[in-house]
Amino acid sequence: MVRLGVNIDHIATLREVRHGIEPEPVFAALICQAAGADGIVVHLREDRRHIKERDLFILREIIKTKLNLEMSVTEEIVKIACQVKPDQATLVPEKRQELTTEGGLDVCGNLKRIIQVRERLERNGIGSSLFIDPDKRQIDAAKKSGVKMIELHTGRYANAKGQKQQEAHLKEIKAATGYAAAKGLEVFAGHGLNYYNVTSVARIDGIEELNIGYSIVCRAALVGLDRAVREMKELIEHKR
Ligand code: PXP
Repeated sequence: MVRLGVNIDHIATLREVRHGIEPEPVFAALICQAAGADGIVVHLREDRRHIKERDLFILREIIKTKLNLEMSVTEEIVKIACQVKPDQATLVPEKRQELTTEGGLDVCGNLKRIIQVRERLERNGIGSSLFIDPDKRQIDAAKKSGVKMIELHTGRYANAKGQKQQEAHLKEIKAATGYAAAKGLEVFAGHGLNYYNVTSVARIDGIEELNIGYSIVCRAALVGLDRAVREMKELIEHKR
């Protein structure tokens, strides 16, 4: 069964709009967990625009499923990760000005640093996944880096204009999944997935986990978080 990791960054975004105390991301994480999420995902950004250290430390104590920390490979963030000890770290590229993580990590161009960080996290009991584009060169480099997991960036598929383009990008994701799985990598996927485009990705043979944030939080604003998570779980499980 394909697992669902719920990214709660944008619950914290809403809190930061007023620099206030609500909505409480920790409360949100517990609701997601109770609604069937297989894990909680958060991105501690260098500019702390949503999730903060305080959230991370509390989440570490209360999350019993899987806490997946998305993080850049900068010294400051690596240090925090080693203290918090999430169940998994997902290494992502990070640009200050971007609205969201726009593309995959360039593993080919940063192999040395990625190996350093992977080894350091491993010494602290943390397994690393790399967030990469569905590209054979990046998958080869990921394998070389020694990680056991990758997450394929589904943004190009999600943003495709028209059915033909969307199918072409889906094909890329399928090919990349098969290629990576044959190399013994665990394959996850995420970014831009929503209630309308998720099933085609959930059906891909070899995909083990989907990480979804924005669309679940948007639906939660209208129907509640518990229902939003359950509806996404149902789509992923039944693949209809
Ligand atoms: N996976 C990774 C590695 C991400 O960086 C993000 C965005 O923070 C997501 C999944 C979730 O993307 P979205 O919020 O578009 O569902």
